[in-house]
Amino acid sequence: MAVLSHFRPCTFWKLIVILVLATILLQAWHMMMLFQLESMVKDKSSSGESQNQSFPDKNDTPQGQIQETGESIESLIKKMWEKVTTANVLDKSGSYVVIDNILEESNSKKDHTQDVTIVTQCSSNHLHHLLTLSKTWNGPISVSVFTHDQDTQFAIYTIAYLIACVKNISKQVLFHIAFPVKNSPLPFDLHDFTVSCNDRIDTFQSKSKHLNYAVEGLEYPNNLLRNIATQAAKTSFVFIVDIDTLPSPEMRMSFNVFIKRHKQFMNSSSPIAFVVPSFEVNSQVDVSSIHTKTDLKKVWNDSKVRPFYFELCWKCQRYTDYEQWGLLPDFDFLEIGYFVDWEDPWEPFFIARKSDLPLYDERFKQYGFNRISQVCESYVKGFRFAVLNNAFLLHHGFKVPGNFHSKKEEEQNRNRQLFREFKKELKLKYPMSDRSC
Ligand SMILES: *[C@@H]1O[C@H](CO)[C@@H](O)[C@H](O)[C@H]1NC(C)=O
Ligand SMILES: *[C@@H]1O[C@H](CO)[C@@H](O)[C@H](O)[C@H]1NC(C)=O
Ligand SMILES: *[C@@H]1O[C@H](CO)[C@@H](O)[C@H](O)[C@H]1NC(C)=O
Ligand SMILES: *[C@@H]1O[C@H](CO)[C@@H](O)[C@H](O)[C@H]1NC(C)=O
Repeated sequence: MAVLSHFRPCTFWKLIVILVLATILLQAWHMMMLFQLESMVKDKSSSGESQNQSFPDKNDTPQGQIQETGESIESLIKKMWEKVTTANVLDKSGSYVVIDNILEESNSKKDHTQDVTIVTQCSSNHLHHLLTLSKTWNGPISVSVFTHDQDTQFAIYTIAYLIACVKNISKQVLFHIAFPVKNSPLPFDLHDFTVSCNDRIDTFQSKSKHLNYAVEGLEYPNNLLRNIATQAAKTSFVFIVDIDTLPSPEMRMSFNVFIKRHKQFMNSSSPIAFVVPSFEVNSQVDVSSIHTKTDLKKVWNDSKVRPFYFELCWKCQRYTDYEQWGLLPDFDFLEIGYFVDWEDPWEPFFIARKSDLPLYDERFKQYGFNRISQVCESYVKGFRFAVLNNAFLLHHGFKVPGNFHSKKEEEQNRNRQLFREFKKELKLKYPMSDRSC
């Protein structure tokens, strides 16, 4: 009452009336959005999505994985749309709306503390990769999805489908959403088209037409998305990868055993990056047929597999020392093969303790320097880089020049400039470090 005594009674009542009115207005708006979702009748063709889009992984359709969870696709869609329309958390720049864990139901109740989460991000038309990824990893995954405008309908439909139809995904995967404030999701008609667990994911996912990095007029905020998914992970370790890659099938279990054997890494004052050598696989080879390092060495010897970015940016990967890795003695358990000194511009994929990792710099968007900036900061922060003997990461298809969108050069030049700034700032952020990059 001491606080209120500053107000004259009539001001106080005015304030109450204003608050009540504001609440009523917000509630009305909210009801209107829900109503629109259910009953707005929109011409199907107005969503204008092109019907043919090539799916690199047609085999990803979950025949055999379908195991319904009992939650209806429609109720999941409504739940997510409600979260979207009521979301009010912005990123640091104030340009994106962020929704952590759009379906809390997908949180596993199990305590995953001593485990590794795969952290990844994508646009809505790459969500189908989760089918194989979740199967191979068979553990926690945290994925941020970038969406906007009418694309949100496809993002939400796809997530609902994955959660309702693939039990293991509903148990393993945490979904997060980010969209630009300026391109916020458009309402849609729930009866526009229907989706059932009998559908193949590509039949409706192909309605969403954009490619990663090439959304017209929009910048893909890869580092923001990585940070959202990393921070939402519920395990002590994270493995941050691209969504179109697959880890070796034994990796997660053998890493967990490895870390139990080496308790010192759980408590290390000097942080470690456990480097996982990455490869790209010729599109004629079925990636899921490569189970072990022995399998890998065989197709590698046949030139059907080569180190990741071999043609595109060899210096970005070669410090992994693939030759030494191939010659390591065959153990059937996971160990550190050897340590490597970081060299510019090495950008390996690695498992690290979540609490040790510097966050990504969210100013980097689109193509170029977005991952390297974080690896470089990890190095300056004092990380050691330990290459794991048996673990590996596979990318579907060879990366060749020319497969990229037209603005790549421009984006890369802009980010190169930003990277120079970033490196200067690191000197100020880590004044005690004798390392630089
Ligand atoms: C879609 O596919 C059809 C035949 O499959 C082809 O004729 C047409 O040009 C394609 N359209 C686009 C936009 O790729
Ligand atoms: C689903 O997960 C269980 C336990 O984690 C595993 O045993 C099973 O093979 C998985 N099923 C599929 C289809 O991946
Ligand atoms: C971890 O480090 C702290 C301080 O450095 C030490 O007190 C503790 O015993 C260590 N724990 C383990 C499990 O090594
Ligand atoms: C590697 O390939 C060569 C031919 O290119 C073959 O002679 C050799 O046996 C292969 N080695 C392995 C381990 O498969």
